[in-house]
Amino acid sequence: MGKLTGKVAVVTGATKMKGLGRAIALGLAREGASIALTGRASSKAGLDEVVQSIIDETGAKAIGVLVDVADQAQVDSAIAEAAEKLGGVDILVNNAGIGAGSGVFLENTERDWDANYGVNVKGTFAMCAGAIPHMEKRGGGAIINVASLAGIGASVGMPYPYIATKHALVGATKALALEYGSKGITANVVAPGAIATDMLMEAYKAIAEAEGCTVEEAAALENSTIPVGRPAEPSEIAAAIVFLATPEAKYVTGITVPVAGGMSAGI
Ligand SMILES: NC(=O)c1ccc[n+]([C@@H]2O[C@H](COP(=O)([O-])OP(=O)(O)OC[C@H]3O[C@@H](n4cnc5c(N)ncnc54)[C@H](O)[C@@H]3O)[C@@H](O)[C@H]2O)c1
Repeated sequence: MGKLTGKVAVVTGATKMKGLGRAIALGLAREGASIALTGRASSKAGLDEVVQSIIDETGAKAIGVLVDVADQAQVDSAIAEAAEKLGGVDILVNNAGIGAGSGVFLENTERDWDANYGVNVKGTFAMCAGAIPHMEKRGGGAIINVASLAGIGASVGMPYPYIATKHALVGATKALALEYGSKGITANVVAPGAIATDMLMEAYKAIAEAEGCTVEEAAALENSTIPVGRPAEPSEIAAAIVFLATPEAKYVTGITVPVAGGMSAGI
């Protein structure tokens, strides 16, 4: 028996074999949860591969559900599909996120602001709104929203709309914790620093371009700002998320947990 046997989890943005979404789904499945992994229609092939890998590695019940979280109608039908196929929703991990835009304030366009808001804020809380009624029916639940250290403090060079929307995500998650605490639904944030995924590789490329150096030099520069000297493996972030989903964490709500190799100590 795992700590999550009999529970159903929905994990967004789980379309990449090396992404954080897969690591979260794997961690939850290892504890016995059934999982609905989600991704956009344009990433269906990746989603299918990730779903199959979870089934192969854990034997858990796992399904793929297509949803662009920035589209309310798609969110409604995705939650309904997950609940119908897996028997409810107990855990929601909002992992899908984007970092469009520029770290130079005046370079940011309306499109950059809207794109970040659509996924990181509107998408996250649309998923929460869809899942909460199912959690209430089950007598409780756990929401874990993935922000970033950029949701706690600013850092030079990071896109402004990313910083703003990750801060918004932290704030509204606290409000959810206040409103739903008495209903047994926890709402917490995990704030990673750097994770060895595609998103980090894109950030290294942007730094290399801005600094006129190679991607390797940019990575070394970034690693020098991390007390433990390297980015996290996705599984190291997933471990904190899985804990927040377990019954052991039912008294933990409204907090933001930095999992950042010590970087948060300097914020
Ligand atoms: N990689 C890092 O260094 C880092 C650091 C801090 C926080 N984070 C956060 O961790 C989370 C996962 O990041 P990652 O590194 O795996 O990124 P990634 O870019 O590799 O994956 C992001 C996932 O979100 C999905 N996604 C994007 N827009 C979507 C939409 N509209 N609808 C549905 N899905 C959508 C993508 O398809 C992908 O599956 C993000 O919220 C990110 O902000 C990442």
